[in-house]
Amino acid sequence: MLDQNTVEIIKATIPAVQPRADEITACFYPLMFAQYPEVIPYFNQTHQAKGAQPKALANAVVAYAANIDSLGNLSDAVTRIVQKHCALGILPEQYAIVGSCLLQAIKQVLGDAASDEVIDAWGKAYQQLADILIEAEEAVYAASARQPGGWRGEREFRVVRKQAESAVISSFYLEPADGGAIPEFSPGQYITVLTEIAGEPVRRNYSLSDAPGTGYLRISVKKEPEGVVSSFLHDQINEGDSLSLRAPFGEFTLRENSKPLVLLTGGVGITPAMSMLNAAASSGREIHFIHAALNSQAHAFKADVDQLAQQHSNVQPFYIYNQPTDDCQPHARGLIDAQMISALLPQTSDIEFYLLGPKPFMQAALKIARSLGVPECQTHFEFFGPMEALEA
Ligand SMILES: Cc1cc2nc3c(=O)[nH]c(=O)nc-3n(C[C@H](O)[C@H](O)[C@H](O)COP(=O)(O)OP(=O)(O)OC[C@H]3O[C@@H](n4cnc5c(N)ncnc54)[C@H](O)[C@@H]3O)c2cc1C
Ligand code: HEM
Repeated sequence: MLDQNTVEIIKATIPAVQPRADEITACFYPLMFAQYPEVIPYFNQTHQAKGAQPKALANAVVAYAANIDSLGNLSDAVTRIVQKHCALGILPEQYAIVGSCLLQAIKQVLGDAASDEVIDAWGKAYQQLADILIEAEEAVYAASARQPGGWRGEREFRVVRKQAESAVISSFYLEPADGGAIPEFSPGQYITVLTEIAGEPVRRNYSLSDAPGTGYLRISVKKEPEGVVSSFLHDQINEGDSLSLRAPFGEFTLRENSKPLVLLTGGVGITPAMSMLNAAASSGREIHFIHAALNSQAHAFKADVDQLAQQHSNVQPFYIYNQPTDDCQPHARGLIDAQMISALLPQTSDIEFYLLGPKPFMQAALKIARSLGVPECQTHFEFFGPMEALEA
């Protein structure tokens, strides 16, 4: 618990820190990578280059300071950070590294305004947050390792099947090389692939794209133009090869209730929705599987979803193509809008609404959820990268 004087200093310095939070985190990362190169492999350098991760950290620091005496407001943010950290394998001892570099960055950017008293207060506040995260992360690591088939750290998996799902997406079916069990996971969770490419260790998150309980873990990867890991997986990894995985984590998970379920996805954002669909199809629950793709060549899992819809009348697919070719027969063409989506859905806002896709798609989808009156706690979204703002 922070003393009152520290809380007052944090509150008094927010007006100086908030407008310069981006500068502080932009200064923080190069400083940390220069002083502690051992943490570099944990960070996706594309997220650094595009600025998304520094922005996410800046937002987290400012939100923390603004809620310094009402930390309960941060529980969703803390849950997301904890799950992301556990997925990547962040360790308690690394918090001292981040703390030291963050304080150096604050001092460097604020200059004389960062007196010893101010730095001391931010140091204490940082430690409080670090303690919360370390404790929560240990609980999550332990629970994950404890369940049947669970593990901590890395585990070797063998690719038992590689399957093209569209012109750009391929699935990898993975079974433990040790022949052991795999854990139950929640549909919507993701694993982390660790590998070395051109001598550099890299790690990337991939959503599980099939239901739990199949005996394998399946990921479905879009080959990104010039993408380091996705190209490696598409071009170099084949049946019989091994991949090192961290266990499933993530909080974008299927709420198992009887409310109508709307899965609204664009492009490769379809992957966690496939896991949710496969898990929920036989529950009898009303499911609207709405997917936007460029055209039929880029449309993954169409045959699987159509087959499920034939077997389960509660599953209602709807496909929208933005750049259809002559042979395409989507239900609609163009971009999603509120009128199109609301015409498909039941006349109630009491639905579970999941959305995932490229950022402009997610902005449009979230607006639609808001216009339908879906409660915030029933509107769920994930980013295939650090959390970004979707609404002004
Ligand atoms: C929770 C979660 C779940 C995910 N699930 C999936 C999934 O199911 N399927 C899936 O395919 N992906 C998924 N991803 C995304 C995945 O983790 C990778 O980000 C993705 O595969 C791209 O990685 P890469 O190494 O191939 O590309 P990177 O090398 O990271 O590059 C990505 C793109 O950015 C471009 N780029 C690189 N550097 C720069 C720069 N400096 N400026 C501008 N552009 C640049 C590259 O050319 C490329 O097009 C998920 C991500 C998260 C966080
Ligand atoms: C109090 C301390 C910390 C805070 C507030 C914090 C906050 C965050 C936030 C907000 C994200 C983005 C989550 C998302 O939207 O997906 C994140 C991701 C991440 N954090 Fe932390 N973090 C802290 C400590 C650490 C430590 C000690 C490490 C270890 C080196 C670390 C490594 C990472 C990595 C590797 C990512 C993913 C980055 C990426 O996508 O490239 N963090 N953290």
